[in-house]
Amino acid sequence: MLSEKLVDAINDQIQYEYYSAFIYKAMQAYFEDEDLPGMANWMDIQFQEEMSHAEKMFQFVCEAGARVELKGIDAPLKEDSSPLEAFEVSLEHEQSVTSRIGDLMELAQQEKNHAAQIFLHWFVTEQVEEEASVSHIIAKLKRIKDDGRGLMMIDQELAQRTFAPIDTAEA
Ligand SMILES: [Fe+2]
Ligand SMILES: [Fe+2]
Repeated sequence: MLSEKLVDAINDQIQYEYYSAFIYKAMQAYFEDEDLPGMANWMDIQFQEEMSHAEKMFQFVCEAGARVELKGIDAPLKEDSSPLEAFEVSLEHEQSVTSRIGDLMELAQQEKNHAAQIFLHWFVTEQVEEEASVSHIIAKLKRIKDDGRGLMMIDQELAQRTFAPIDTAEA
């Protein structure tokens, strides 16, 4: 059901989703250290989401009768000298994920693999949401500039985020 090329590409993306999780976990550590528990919480939820993205792809490869191959993960980025910078790095990262998902979709289309296209559809939509939510936070952080009270308010807002498990078993 999956060509070797598609299996390789999805395996690469599984690695990249774990790498994403790793980046967000590092950002959680940064925010914990900065005493911004709401932002730390937001990053932890992001971490869990990325883990579930990897899991969803993992299950898809297995169900397609192919073999998941786990690959090494680089040390996470450490360009988080301010909350704004951390979220800007997040946005750049999500944009790189979006382009990778786009490449995967193109490959599935070239191969006329409809099951893979339907599966990847979920990720295309998810990326729109991912970029939008990070952009929204960046806009707020830019608006408050160096206002400490504003920062605390955003932190409180991000403390409300909870993890909504996705159906990792279904395409
Ligand atoms: Fe992801
Ligand atoms: Fe993401």
